[in-house]
Amino acid sequence: MSVTVIVGTQWGDEGKGKITDLLARDMDMVVRYQGGNNAGHTVVIKERTFKLHLVPSGIFYPNVTCVIGNGVVLDLAGLLGEIKSLKEAGFSLNNLKISSQAHVIFPYHRDLDAAQEQTHEAGRIGTTNRGIGPCYVDKFNRRGIRVGDFLHPEVFRQKLEWNLKEKSFLLNSFYKMDVAYDLEEIRKEYLGYFGLLKEYVAEESSVVVNEAISVNKRILMEGAQGTMLDVDHGTYPYVTSSNPVSGGACCGAGFGPQEIDEVIGVVKAYVTRVGGGPFPTEIAGGVGDELRERGGEYGTTTGRPRRCGWFDGVVMRHAANVNGLTQLAITKMDVLDSFEKIKVCAAYEKEGQVIRDFPTDIARLEGCRPVYEELPGWRQDISKLTDYSQLPANAKKYLDKLAELAEARVTLISVGAERGQIIRI
Ligand code: GDP
Ligand code: IMO
Ligand code: MG
Repeated sequence: MSVTVIVGTQWGDEGKGKITDLLARDMDMVVRYQGGNNAGHTVVIKERTFKLHLVPSGIFYPNVTCVIGNGVVLDLAGLLGEIKSLKEAGFSLNNLKISSQAHVIFPYHRDLDAAQEQTHEAGRIGTTNRGIGPCYVDKFNRRGIRVGDFLHPEVFRQKLEWNLKEKSFLLNSFYKMDVAYDLEEIRKEYLGYFGLLKEYVAEESSVVVNEAISVNKRILMEGAQGTMLDVDHGTYPYVTSSNPVSGGACCGAGFGPQEIDEVIGVVKAYVTRVGGGPFPTEIAGGVGDELRERGGEYGTTTGRPRRCGWFDGVVMRHAANVNGLTQLAITKMDVLDSFEKIKVCAAYEKEGQVIRDFPTDIARLEGCRPVYEELPGWRQDISKLTDYSQLPANAKKYLDKLAELAEARVTLISVGAERGQIIRI
């Protein structure tokens, strides 16, 4: 067994990029298994900040093979841009592989994403507008175009032609948009992108992963988004269109569950959410603003301000259950340095009932109010600490509380964005 899965335990942006980069040093392979360029994973190495959207966060180590798995949806122009800027920063990218089974995002997916958001004014999901949902719809509807289809230009042309007809009809007649797609133009544009990416394409990416497993290579699965954005286990319909949970790694990379030996939940020391949908511990104004400013809580992909709130133990328990967490990586502990009192939600209360299991049906979730426990803050700069023993007693108490709620052990504590700002237990 040699596979470790990294998953977000909240609504994304927990610091998965930082933790993946940190652990990648001791890995042979890092695989992205779902999502697309809706993700924004930040890695800070000394003074340099990298924002990765599709390229796995192990890319800074030339000996680590980085695989974009079959479960990912790919924006080819976005990926090319990312590759270009990483090359300009001095990384070779010789270690990158792209699954031929990954589905490709086309302009009509982005147009449909925008059209659906505009016509659902009241129930807007607040998507990243990257065409993620519509691309996954085509995948599951068996109309999608995969990277491997570019190897068969006639097959690609036929699929594209059919999709352009269907999507134009839907966009113009139903959504009352005014779109006109040119088959030849789009065909040439995308074949051009493919030509530039071809050197990275692995025809059988699951073979690449399983060969590594068979010789006991150390492999990290890098989840995007988070458990509460999971299409099955999150706050549906205010979710993304894939399975960020640990089980998604098996499907999105193509290996068996018995190969997983650790599941690391990345847990922000408080909670944020970007986009619409329920968020029981959200704090409007005041402390919420302080968390946003101290934590720099603005979207990595869209720049939108993130909604902020106290740590939610009900969400934590749910994430521990559906992912089978074996370890916790607590991030952004330093952001709490300034608070005199820190609240932690241990349960919800609704109509006199105590609720400990997260209601994934948002109608049942409505009216759930967090029941808080208040813990004393530590009022001390912890951002330069490197050893657990140096942490103030109140910070240790806070960590113990999170571990108790998750029923998992804390093995990593991040105290700043930079690679070296980490405490290992
Ligand atoms: P991801 O999507 O889960 O990879 O997270 P993002 O990169 O979108 O957002 C996390 C943000 O917090 C980024 O700006 C990181 O550089 C930053 N960050 C990560 N860990 C820490 C930490 O321990 N302390 C502080 N202050 N910032 C952190
Ligand atoms: P990382 O990997 C935070 C949110 C969007 C929206 C919902 C659906 O950086 O943690 P989509 O474009 O996926 O159809 O949008 O999901 N969302 C994220 N929020 N971090 C992310 O990724 C996200 N990816 C999608 O804001 O609410
Ligand atoms: Mg992010």
